[in-house]
Amino acid sequence: MYEYPFVEVNMPVFMVDQVREMFPALVSKDEQPPPIFLDNSAGTQLPRTVIEAVGQAMTSASSNLGGMFPSSIRADEIWRSSHEAMADMLGASLMREIVVGPSMTTLTLHISRSIGRTLHRGDEIIVTHMDHEGDISPWLLLAEDLGLVVKWLPFNRDTWRIEVEDLNALLTDKTGLVALNYASNLTGSINNISELASVARSAGALVYVDAVQLAPHRLVSVNDLNCDFLVCSSYKFYGPHLGILWGRESVLADLDAYRCRCASDDPPEKFETGTPQTELLAGLESTVAYFQRLGEMCDYSGSRREKIVGAYAATTDYENGLTIKLIEELNEIPGLCIHGITDAKHIQDRVPTVSFTHATVSPAEIAKTLAQNNICAWSGHNYAYAVVKHLGLDEEQGVLRVGIAQYNTENEINRTLEVLTRLLG
Ligand SMILES: Cc1ncc(COP(=O)(O)O)c(C=O)c1O
Repeated sequence: MYEYPFVEVNMPVFMVDQVREMFPALVSKDEQPPPIFLDNSAGTQLPRTVIEAVGQAMTSASSNLGGMFPSSIRADEIWRSSHEAMADMLGASLMREIVVGPSMTTLTLHISRSIGRTLHRGDEIIVTHMDHEGDISPWLLLAEDLGLVVKWLPFNRDTWRIEVEDLNALLTDKTGLVALNYASNLTGSINNISELASVARSAGALVYVDAVQLAPHRLVSVNDLNCDFLVCSSYKFYGPHLGILWGRESVLADLDAYRCRCASDDPPEKFETGTPQTELLAGLESTVAYFQRLGEMCDYSGSRREKIVGAYAATTDYENGLTIKLIEELNEIPGLCIHGITDAKHIQDRVPTVSFTHATVSPAEIAKTLAQNNICAWSGHNYAYAVVKHLGLDEEQGVLRVGIAQYNTENEINRTLEVLTRLLG
């Protein structure tokens, strides 16, 4: 029996069957064997309520914002309430600090241009070997355009995290920006953002945090992190395909936005170019309501934020139990190497994104065998291109990545392990 830190049973209690009932893709009887979605680090399935909210908005609010007629007024309401919901989800004080766009990468490419207006030739920026390309390439492109100096921050190969000493060694009075991730989309390890951000901000740098891989699994409280920006993507946490950027109000207000000259110059509108995806915003609000509902199902009460906090407390605990099981049994397979934290004592320092390679069978072959058994998982670098290079892995083959979500079950993990053991054991 695992000495599980929260509940002393094999697997923490969580009403996973009730949760699964809420997701049409998980209860569909069309496919045999039923699909096992372990591609969640790339994107999750959606609750029925979110799907319905998108459809309803297409009926009732398919108009542009700012009109005097009902469908436009409804679109305005959706725009506002979705931003307020996301502010609660991320623990932000103000809806004005929430910018929504098509994806994290698009938002980052866009706002990097505005941040670039505060930087000068010869200024330094820091990017990491641990990040997804969505938080590296925009900054490399900016550096190329402006003549900035790029410094690369490594992660520690024993702890799998970024160490504050390594960051300190790169900071100078010319550092304008530090871009780093909260959790890796390949190794799964979680960085101590409040510590790293405090050090970077004391050196005078802006801190840009990619929380895409963390937000589905851990509560985000932007006000406790000391960063200036934090980005995530709702399609990774049971929502529609949107990206969300939180920016510190004073920083967003001062930045010069790339926008149409007749558009609003107030945050967040000045960063939300063009007509918003109202139907997806309705889905976003409903995604936050799903977390709220989950909190209620787990007996949490109070404000929307308090229920969201409760939902994360329950799901983190449950996902950790599945992850420990997966890792311990993968470790029994000869020739298999997990690239990330494997010690159950440090489970709190990782999200349930588990990547591995095998001595003789390629990640693509493993993914193909899993797919033949209706198990969804990814092979390749998964845009964690810098990580794959840093680890000296084959750049194209990359890893086999299994990403657990709150709706996965112990049976699904067992079925996956059986297939892997037959193939590799
Ligand atoms: C850690 C991380 N950052 C950024 C992204 C890019 O997100 P988006 O698809 O919203 O641009 C991903 C997507 O997989 C990711 O895992």
